[in-house]
Amino acid sequence: MLQDIPTPTLREARACVLETERLTLRRPTLADVKAIARLANDRRIAENTRRLPHPYSQDHAVEFVRATAADRCETVFLIENNHVPIGMVGIDRRDPDAPELGYWLGVDYWGQGFGTEAARAVIDFFFEEFDCDHLISGARVANPSSRNILEKCGFQWSGVELHRFEALGSSTPVDCFRLSRGVWSSLKNWGSSTRRQR
Ligand SMILES: CC(C)(COP(=O)(O)OP(=O)(O)OC[C@H]1O[C@@H](n2cnc3c(N)ncnc32)[C@H](O)[C@@H]1OP(=O)(O)O)[C@@H](O)C(=O)NCCC(=O)NCCS
Repeated sequence: MLQDIPTPTLREARACVLETERLTLRRPTLADVKAIARLANDRRIAENTRRLPHPYSQDHAVEFVRATAADRCETVFLIENNHVPIGMVGIDRRDPDAPELGYWLGVDYWGQGFGTEAARAVIDFFFEEFDCDHLISGARVANPSSRNILEKCGFQWSGVELHRFEALGSSTPVDCFRLSRGVWSSLKNWGSSTRRQR
């Protein structure tokens, strides 16, 4: 199977790795499809992400890895903790006016702050790498943990829209959020101030 990996996948995988305190974010390859399918095949994930089908098979994972390796407008990262894959995070830039952040984690890894840590790393990557002035994202109105991640990252609520979710087979209301480069940059700067004792 490894000989099927197209050259760009390997090149991208080497080119961009993000490190955080507990996580490594890297481009997925065909060697990861078993792990991706095992993690993604859960209705609780599919019902909160727009494009994830359910059930989610290894064939879906192969198609996803191949498509994202070939697509220069979508940057996706496999999230690993201690070398173990735990989820995915990415930025979709197909609409240049509305680059969009998306993420999901395997259910066993929820509730430990990994979602926030991965989102922050990719947001920094996005504003450092691309000349865009804002990033959007969304969370179903019935998804408080995702909404919480976006607010902790500085996103501001911009309204509610109806979006189609593949696994639901229907449309559902989504809270929409926007993070401007200005807000991101102030949050980064606030983090760097220190206090001196006199
Ligand atoms: C959304 C998702 C990534 C969250 O990951 P996570 O690692 O559990 O998130 P974090 O631990 O970083 O943060 C979640 C925050 O929401 C809070 N939260 C969790 N459940 C909550 C609830 N029912 N009500 C209010 N807040 C809640 C947590 O306390 C935490 O906030 P805190 O750090 O201030 O305590 C994960 O649940 C997931 O993959 N869900 C399915 C896919 C999805 O929803 N993707 C996002 C849409 S693009």
